[in-house]
Amino acid sequence: MRCLVVVGAQWGDEGKGKIVDVLAEQATIVARYQGGANAGHTVWVEEDEFILHLIPSGILNPDTRCLLGNGVVVDPWVLAREIATLRDRGIDLDGRLGVSRRAHLVLPYHRLLDAAQEDSRGAAKIGTTGRGIGPAYRDKVARTGLRFGDLRDVDRTREIVAGAAVRANVTLAGLGDARRVDTDDVMSRLEQVRRQMVELSTDAGDEIRGGLAAGGRVLLEGAQGALLDIDHGTYPFVTSSTTTAGGAASGVGIGPTLIDEVLGVVKAYITRVGAGPLPTELAEAEAERLRQLGGEFGATTGRPRRPGWFDASVARYAAGVNGFTGLAVTKLDVLDTFEEIRLATGYEVDGTPVASFPDSVADLARVTPVFERWPGWATDTTGCRTFAELPGAARRYLARLEEVCATPIRFVGVGAARRETIAVPAGAALR
Ligand code: GDP
Ligand code: IMO
Ligand code: MG
Repeated sequence: MRCLVVVGAQWGDEGKGKIVDVLAEQATIVARYQGGANAGHTVWVEEDEFILHLIPSGILNPDTRCLLGNGVVVDPWVLAREIATLRDRGIDLDGRLGVSRRAHLVLPYHRLLDAAQEDSRGAAKIGTTGRGIGPAYRDKVARTGLRFGDLRDVDRTREIVAGAAVRANVTLAGLGDARRVDTDDVMSRLEQVRRQMVELSTDAGDEIRGGLAAGGRVLLEGAQGALLDIDHGTYPFVTSSTTTAGGAASGVGIGPTLIDEVLGVVKAYITRVGAGPLPTELAEAEAERLRQLGGEFGATTGRPRRPGWFDASVARYAAGVNGFTGLAVTKLDVLDTFEEIRLATGYEVDGTPVASFPDSVADLARVTPVFERWPGWATDTTGCRTFAELPGAARRYLARLEEVCATPIRFVGVGAARRETIAVPAGAALR
């Protein structure tokens, strides 16, 4: 691996943070390429749990440089808090963190608008994380956003904030929301973090291209998942960025030809948090069992996640839009006590197989998954360190999963700890 992208292949929370942390040992640079503090990436280092929202999960490996690329939207107060928390916990960040000058800021009015717009949607809520992500990307695309590079110039910053405040106040008034944005207030809050942010600013693309040219290894860390992608996801129940591998090159400023591998991360089952269809969703009693066993509560908002059985239609679609070269299957151990495990190999509508992944949520809500039933293994897998050590029923389930996804499995997660990761050598056939 010279340049590897790690992408969520479902609806987020697949365990990308843990996989990035494990792979970061071999990397010189780890960079996020999209999303913002809507992400919650959990990494366990021995007995310590770290939840990272903005800083790449590579930060817990002392030798990596971590970057936020131009495609990320950065809430500077969240970033400042995350830096302070990591420092308090003994992580040395000096010279290890940079933010692209082309990255846009998430400002207090973006959060306000996110909340006001969600409220106004009533029953049609997306269930956003409330982190201001959609409004920040809207400003970026409308060419009215504030970028890290702008922070060097206070007058320019003020001009952009003042314009945004006028527009935000019109929107808030239109939504019947009594709250208003005050430019002086935003500017005085910004002043608390401005210098620190200017010091962190860099040309992330230059750094990554230079690092690769010098023989370094680069990991590009995705947030969210393929089915939350603004184009390829279950629109409108998606996030506002390009989560898929195609966005990685543009989100850090390198050419796509520099990317060698794309690793898709899937759970051995599936979860979704927020609204939108989930064809293999479990009935509530089973859902609660899986939620408790898998600790399926949001790392950012604490909301209960909605669990379902593994959905190969989702994984194949994600493999197609991302060009996966391999899969990491996480949380196999969560299924250890299930008597029977179901695997959806495809969808049907009125008994007719669905050939291509539905582009509309109305169509996706109408499909019936075609399930296979596999016997459980009723064995604790958390101590397994090679594929051969896994119980036979678990190996057969994974072999079938690999087959229906038509993508080789490279890693299997059997626990949240670094060591609870099985590497499957390239070229090894699971069957
Ligand atoms: P991310 O957003 O994709 O990084 O995933 P999250 O961190 O939001 O959620 C994944 C959760 O599963 C975290 O609590 C991880 O510590 C945990 N996790 C990751 N891999 C495994 C695994 O193989 N087994 C178990 N039991 N937990 C895992
Ligand atoms: P990680 O990186 C799971 C979901 C929200 C909501 C939709 C839009 O930890 O996998 P947004 O705040 O982005 O406008 O919300 O996307 N969502 C996630 N779901 N994991 C995430 O990140 C998510 N980030 C956003 O729940 O449905
Ligand atoms: Mg998460």
